[in-house]
Formats: sequence, structure tokens, C-alpha cells
Amino acid sequence: MTRPEDVPDVALTREVSPSLARCELTFLPREAIDLARAVAQHGAYCRLLESLGLEVVRLPADAAQPDCCFVEDTAVVLDELAVIAHPGAPSRRGEVEIVAGVLAHHRPLARIPASARLDGGDVLVLGRRLFVGVTARTDAAGATALARLVAPFGYEVVPVPVTGCLHLKSAVTAIGDETVLANPAWADMTLLAGVEVVPVDTDEPWAANVLRVAGAVVAHAGFPRTIDRLAERGLDVRTVDVGEFLKAEAGVTCKSLLVRGLG
Ligand code: GLY
Repeated sequence: MTRPEDVPDVALTREVSPSLARCELTFLPREAIDLARAVAQHGAYCRLLESLGLEVVRLPADAAQPDCCFVEDTAVVLDELAVIAHPGAPSRRGEVEIVAGVLAHHRPLARIPASARLDGGDVLVLGRRLFVGVTARTDAAGATALARLVAPFGYEVVPVPVTGCLHLKSAVTAIGDETVLANPAWADMTLLAGVEVVPVDTDEPWAANVLRVAGAVVAHAGFPRTIDRLAERGLDVRTVDVGEFLKAEAGVTCKSLLVRGLG
């Protein structure tokens, strides 16, 4: 399908909760989060997406949901449907309905059943393959449920066990149609058969989380060696400081859900 140039992609975002300091943490020790700085960083992130031509939808925060700005975990958006997640952390399950309400205007909805667990941050889409991290948040039943929902549209689900970090997309994200940036210490990259793997700089183990959008790659500004590695490949790298969110075990992909315009 050819996309008309005037149909924008949407980046669905949600404002930072005043309770962000009480966010879920799994692998990282709790550090003080500067809320004002986090809000400013989130604003800069949204403006960067706007500068790339996206229509940024900003949902309001909820003080009772510390992690609510990490909307990526609430759904998996494909061209054919949006799959509403059943987040692995019970404290995050209340985040999904406001997002589902918006996505219902863009896509038919399907849902991961309550008997399974799946966070959107564990789903890496490469063409018709969905690599699903089996993690502290997403279980094998979640991967199986997703596979059942997307199979009618020709997608294959490949489970990928993850160790050492929260989500699969902390360990690996796309920088091309069949190329990823990865920290191979956290997930077995041989499971991504046929995919070219660019490793992060060994001094920057958290640098693998980048957002490929609108022809650019958005990266956290604090990982200069990995950024150089991407730029040397000719990628259009745009940097943004998400340092307060790294303390919340999150990164650049976590803070938006991208919805492709389909014309
Ligand atoms: N703090 C991000 C998460 O645990 O989901």
C-alpha cells in the first residue's frame, strides 16, 4: 500500500505522573528522580517527535499510576490491529484503558487475556516477525496469546528469553528493516535469524533502546559512543535526554506508541 504524504503518523504519549518516583523497578536500585526535570525531558521528547512530523497525542497523567507515561507497555500497534496488553506488573494494569480508548479510533482492537501477561516493551516488530521477550513482565502464555491474535494477519511470533534487563526492548531495538542495535549480553541474538546485529558500545550497556521513527533514530544523549556507531552507519540520529526515565528503568521507546497513518 502506498502511503499518501499528507497522512501523519501519530505518536501517542502520556504526561508524567507526579508519583513517578514510586515507579516499578525490577533490576535497578531506586534513585531519586527529579520530577521537574523529568517533565521537561518528556516535553523535549514530544517536541522532537513533532519536529519529525508526527502528530503527538498527549494523554493526561494519573497520580495513582506512577509508570503511566510509559505507554509503550500498554499495547502492540500493527497496521491491521492494536493488541491491548495485560501488563505483567499488577500496578500497571490500570494504564491500559485510556490508551485503548484512543487506539480504538485508529485500529480494530484485540486483547491479551487476563490469564496471560504481556508488556508492549517486550515486543519488537521486524516486518512480519514479532520477537517477544520472555521476561519478568511477559510470560510464555502472553507470547502464545499474541501469536494467536496476529497469526490471521500473517505475523509470526518468536519468543526470546531475556536476562539482565526489564524488557526485550531494553536489550534490542530496530535501526533498520532487518537491522537491530543490541546488547547481546541480555538476549540471545541468534534467535533473530537473518537479522544484522549492531552491538552497543561495551561501556554503554543500556544504549540499545532507540526509537526508529520518521526516517530517523532517536537515542538518549548520554550514550555518545553508541551514537557515533550509529552515525557512522549513515543513520540520521536525533538525541534527547531521558536521563530521569533511565532511573525508572525506561528509555526512549517506552514513552510513545507509534500509530502509522494508513491513508
Ligand atoms: N518503571 C517501568 C516499569 O517497571 O515498567
